[in-house]
Amino acid sequence: MIHSRIAGTGSYLPEKILTNADLEKMVDTSDEWIRSRTGIERRHIAVDGQTTVDLAEQAARRAIEAAGITPAEVDFIAFGTTTPDLVFPNCGVLLQQRLGCRGVPAFSVETACAGFMYALSIADKYVRCGEAKRALVIGAETLSRMTDWSDRGTAVLFADGAGAVVLEPSAAPGVLSTHLHADGVYKDLLYCGSGVSRGFEPKLVITMSGNEVFKIAVTKLGQAVDEALAANGLTKEALDWLVPHQANIRIIQAMARRLDMPMEKVIVTVQEHGNTSAASVPLALDVAVRDGRIKRGELLLLEAFGGGFTWGSALVRY
Ligand code: ACO
Repeated sequence: MIHSRIAGTGSYLPEKILTNADLEKMVDTSDEWIRSRTGIERRHIAVDGQTTVDLAEQAARRAIEAAGITPAEVDFIAFGTTTPDLVFPNCGVLLQQRLGCRGVPAFSVETACAGFMYALSIADKYVRCGEAKRALVIGAETLSRMTDWSDRGTAVLFADGAGAVVLEPSAAPGVLSTHLHADGVYKDLLYCGSGVSRGFEPKLVITMSGNEVFKIAVTKLGQAVDEALAANGLTKEALDWLVPHQANIRIIQAMARRLDMPMEKVIVTVQEHGNTSAASVPLALDVAVRDGRIKRGELLLLEAFGGGFTWGSALVRY
C-alpha cells in the first residue's frame, strides 16, 4: 500500500513588520489588550504590489529544495488561499507557471483558514492512489488586502505569509489520516461580504463576530483532534507535537489542555505571525522543522478552523 509523507517544508514571510505599537496609532487599541486577548505581538504585511503568489513562490521553492527535488519535478499543486491574485487563473496555475512544471494539475482551494488542511487532504489522496508523486501543497495569504484597518476588532488579528510542503509516496505511513468538516449554518459569523457574482460592494473586508467564532472554534477543533486520534486507534499520549492554526493563543491553549499537552509541545508562532489563515499551519510546521524541534519519525497533530465554518485535522508521522 502506498502512503504519502512530507518530504520537505518551506515558508516565507514578507519583510515588512507591523507591531502592536504601530496599530495603536491606527485604531483605538493597546499592546496590552492585543497581547492578552490574542497573544499577537507583531505580524508581517506584504508591501504594495506583493501578491499571494509572490509569497507562495518563495515558500514553495524552499519546500522543493528541502525535499531534494527540482521545481520541474513537481507533478501536482494544491493551493489553499482566500486571497487570490486574480479571479482566474487560480493561484495554483500562476505558481505552476513560475515553477515551470507545465501541464501538471494545479488548482486553488478556498476554505479560509482551513485551506491548507483541505489542500493537504486532497494531495494526500492523489499520492496514495498513485496519481501524484511529488505533490506541492501550499497555504498562502495576503489577508492585509481585505482587512478593514479602521476596525479594531479585526485589524489586530490578520496578517500575510506562506507555507508549503512537498508530499511524496512512501512505504511507511506519513500522513496517517485527514479529517475535513464544514458547516455553512455559521456563514454569517465570519465572512467577506463581497465577491464576483454579488458585486464588490460594500467593501472587500473581513467581518467577524469574534466572541462566537472563538467559542465554536474551541468546540469544533476539540472534536476534530479527538476524531484524528480515534481514527488511528491512538491516545493523546502518543503525540509528540501539536501544530495548531495560529489564530489566538487562548484557542491554542484550550487545545493543548484538551490534549493534556504542555505548551512546550505546542508549536506557537502567533506572537510573530498573527493569523495568516491558510498559511498558518504550514508556516508553524516549517518554523519548527527548521529550528530542529520537530524531528523525523515524530507524531504531529495539525488542525485549523476558519470562515464557513470550515475546519479539519491531520495526524502526520513526520
Ligand atoms: N483593542 C481594544 N479593545 C478591543 C479591541 C481591540 N483591538 N477589539 C475589541 N475590543 C473591545 C470590545 O469592543 C469589547 O469592549 P466592551 O466590553 O466595552 O464592549 C471588549 O474589547 C471585549 O471584546 P470581545 O470581542 O468580547 O473580546 P474577546 O475576548 O472575545 O477577544 C477576539 C476578541 C480576540 C477577536 C477573540 O474573540 C478571538 O480571537 N476570536 C476568534 C477569532 C478567530 O479566531 N478568527 C479567525 C478564525 S479563522 C479565519 O477564517 C480568518
